Amino acid sequence: MRAMQISSDHPLLLRIVDDLAERGWSQQNIFLPLDLTRALAAECRKRAAEGELAPAAVGRGPTSEIREGIRGDHIQWIDPGQAEACDSYLGLMDSLREAINRGLFLGLEDFESHFAMYPPGAFYLKHLDRFRDDDRRMVSAVVYLNDGWLPEHGGQLRMYLDNERAYDVQPTGGCLVVFLSGEVPHEVLPATRERLSLTGWFRRRGNEPF
Ligand code: OGA
Ligand code: MN
Repeated sequence: MRAMQISSDHPLLLRIVDDLAERGWSQQNIFLPLDLTRALAAECRKRAAEGELAPAAVGRGPTSEIREGIRGDHIQWIDPGQAEACDSYLGLMDSLREAINRGLFLGLEDFESHFAMYPPGAFYLKHLDRFRDDDRRMVSAVVYLNDGWLPEHGGQLRMYLDNERAYDVQPTGGCLVVFLSGEVPHEVLPATRERLSLTGWFRRRGNEPF
């Protein structure tokens, strides 16, 4: 697969930036190309089969803990240089980071992301993507890696928008959802089948506690 390049003034990215500015979130159903979506799903499954995904913790630093009653996904953080598909994804996200900085002046400096696999029945209760002691996460971005997802499979991302209005996103392969990390409460509903995604956060420089 060819390495992905996309300019930071690509119309798709400008639309996402406009959405973020106007309402704090954006959904693009056709964001990742199909071949990249499949390659990322295969990479996620390979890592799961090799035992590299671990139960995700709640919180950060010394007080973080595994609590399946809050979140039941298994994750692995990704780094550049591990797999071509991951590097393509990181390249796309870097173009999005530049586009957001250009349009919104958020001063986003880096991006952290992990694969997430929710086994059937797993969920993540309503939360904000900000830690109490660390406000560096500004914008959350989730891409889904699931072929042929149907509403009856469950697993929706439920966002609570203005006035707590619930809005559901189907975790269908290739779809990207972006939202302001500190402003959009959201949850992951339980699914009847395995649910794969890449979740990441654009961060600004901050008063890092440790
Ligand atoms: C998260 C999260 C949403 C999703 O990992 O913080 O909210 O749809 N993920 O996977
Ligand atoms: Mn979240």
